[in-house]
Amino acid sequence: MADQQQTASSRIDISVPHSARIYDYWLDGKDNFAADRAVAEALVAAIPTIRSMAAENRYFVHRVARYLAGQAGVRQFLDIGTGIPTRPNLHEIAQQIAPETRVVYVDNDPIVLAHARALMVSTEQGRSEYIHADLREPEMILNHRTLRETLDLDQPVALTLVAILMLLGDADDPWRKVRVLMDALPPSSYVAITHPTGDFNPESMAAGVAAAADSGMTLVPRTREEVARFFDGWELVEPGLVPVMAWQPDDGEPADSHAAYYWAGVARKP
Ligand SMILES: C[S@@+](CC[C@H](N)C(=O)[O-])C[C@H]1O[C@@H](n2cnc3c(N)ncnc32)[C@H](O)[C@@H]1O
Repeated sequence: MADQQQTASSRIDISVPHSARIYDYWLDGKDNFAADRAVAEALVAAIPTIRSMAAENRYFVHRVARYLAGQAGVRQFLDIGTGIPTRPNLHEIAQQIAPETRVVYVDNDPIVLAHARALMVSTEQGRSEYIHADLREPEMILNHRTLRETLDLDQPVALTLVAILMLLGDADDPWRKVRVLMDALPPSSYVAITHPTGDFNPESMAAGVAAAADSGMTLVPRTREEVARFFDGWELVEPGLVPVMAWQPDDGEPADSHAAYYWAGVARKP
């Protein structure tokens, strides 16, 4: 791992904006550079509430980890597009409920790899590991030795894809990439997805897409129907595919659940 981290540090290019670092800036983190901050601010100008949307996605991770480890009884997680570690991380929440939980984190950004030590924790019972890999190559993730040593694919797994799929254009066929992962999981597995959309505020989202494009970044908002396709054949749990703030909220229905322009859903494999 030390060697991998060395390689990661040397591969970090601070002149090119990266989504993990832009997100980190919105979440008041310290792992971002001028190129990231410039795009982050351009996106704030287009979508003034985008910082709180990043926070809403983190809150969703917390709620979904509690639901899956608690009510759903899942003991294995595969989290793709993890981002720079932000406490509480998914494994911390799940292991608080079920200490034996095992988590594999995946991201393709060298800066996340450089921080991976914070994500790799073995306790007496549980374990969390990190794989530097790309969602566009799902077979490589599934066949990775670390995944095979950490997760038992004969037992239910929760696949979490939070605020990542908009970074894959349609040409990458994100539906097929996600399906390869879903097909590898046994019945009673879960998939949890959040995805930005233009459905709630088309003008603002279009301005955001333009700001991202100006910086050479891919940002693809998708309609409710397009997001629903990711779940095809699996059973959405309550409350279904809803605005992220309305997915099992902690404090009752939010006053304006459309304030964060993201769809969110969790589904179970029959
Ligand atoms: C917007 S952040 C979301 C972080 C986290 N899931 C959350 O909601 O707080 C997106 C993350 O996905 C990662 N990512 C983007 N494209 C990826 C790909 N093709 N394969 C793996 N990770 C990717 C980025 O490096 C970044 O860390």
